[in-house]
Amino acid sequence: MNRISKNSLRAVALACATLAASAQAGEVEVLHWWTSGGEAKAVGSLKATLQAKGHTWKDFAVAGGGGDSAMTVLKSRVVSGNAPAAAQIKGPSLQEWAAEGVLANMDDVAKAEQWDSLLPKVVSDIMKYKGNYIAAPVNVHRVNWLWANPEAFKKAGTKVPTNWDEFFVAAEALKKAGIVPVAHGGQNWQDFTTFEAVALGVGGTEFYKKALVQLDPATISSPTMEKVLTTFKKVKDYTDKNAPGRDWNLATAMVIKGEAGMQIMGDWAKGEFVAAGKVPGKDFVCVAAPGTAKAYTFNIDSFALFNQRDAEKTKARKDLAVAIMSTEFQETFSLNKGSIPVRLNMKMDKFDDCAKASSADFVATAKTGALVPSIAHGMAVNSAAEGAIKDAVSQYWNSDKMSAKDAMGKIALAAKTR
Ligand code: BGC
Repeated sequence: MNRISKNSLRAVALACATLAASAQAGEVEVLHWWTSGGEAKAVGSLKATLQAKGHTWKDFAVAGGGGDSAMTVLKSRVVSGNAPAAAQIKGPSLQEWAAEGVLANMDDVAKAEQWDSLLPKVVSDIMKYKGNYIAAPVNVHRVNWLWANPEAFKKAGTKVPTNWDEFFVAAEALKKAGIVPVAHGGQNWQDFTTFEAVALGVGGTEFYKKALVQLDPATISSPTMEKVLTTFKKVKDYTDKNAPGRDWNLATAMVIKGEAGMQIMGDWAKGEFVAAGKVPGKDFVCVAAPGTAKAYTFNIDSFALFNQRDAEKTKARKDLAVAIMSTEFQETFSLNKGSIPVRLNMKMDKFDDCAKASSADFVATAKTGALVPSIAHGMAVNSAAEGAIKDAVSQYWNSDKMSAKDAMGKIALAAKTR
């Protein structure tokens, strides 16, 4: 046998081995929008988990906090008949996609892994369409948080606020000390995140539910809503002129560096502090957004699987679903992401005090009725109404002329969008 034929035989043998391996392994293309420092670390743990099972991770990251850009890209991919294997889809949007008949039924995995007994009912309800599982839940984020830099507060001689009156006192003091009081960015979902925190803090839980979950017209046009809008707009006076266009994680970086005093943001912000090596309780503090200590706006990340014909890919996707709910993954992912595990009865000993508080409050507020879905993060209403209300809120935030009453009219109209 000459050299060439020996080499070609070796090549054939190698090809056979690769084929044999790929008979059990598949490629999973995963669409997500986790591109900031903490987010990327968290998604890296999902990738590693899948790769450990012999599958290939094809990253389909679409940058843009809150996921609006990712959802636009997803729609065009599905419409053109080229859906990814899995996509980060949340809340009522899951049911909207399922109604299109494009999502895979995950009951086989859910039954085998006993998801019904491992998940709080508020979570499993969101993951189901007509009683069948159509998504795997990843974690629970609390949205109503305020992140503060204690050094900045010390310099300004003021204390971290617990209600909206204290918030404006602190903001004024930070401003006088030459510190940007409120780190804010430029996308409308960031305005909306602040808005829902103000609605919850000023209006209370019942108001929040009526106005932003049930979209009750009378509540949307009530004097309480006017007060919420006026308070919300006042927050803008304490943001800096470079906020428009700024990403949320760059706003968090301002608090990390002490250039800004505080940020109202969900606990994915903690992922940024932690990724920067900062220690909660020392370098930064987490408190409930003003006036919301007894309530909890929840935001649950989840992955849906798209129907696939290819058997290898189906196996890989199932492995992804099993991995997402495993105790190891639930822990590692949330430690990086700033969230808490969605799976019940997880040990919290590796988690910091912010996560421990989130976990205890999730359970407590579920009992008192103060556990509410975040409208700004796609948990509360249909996606069309959410988008329209979000636009109305941002128009008001950005306009010098629109009154709170005008904004109420716009929000009421937007709430009717289907
Ligand atoms: C998602 C988080 C993400 C955040 C910022 C939220 O809507 O639920 O997972 O970190 O947007 O991108």
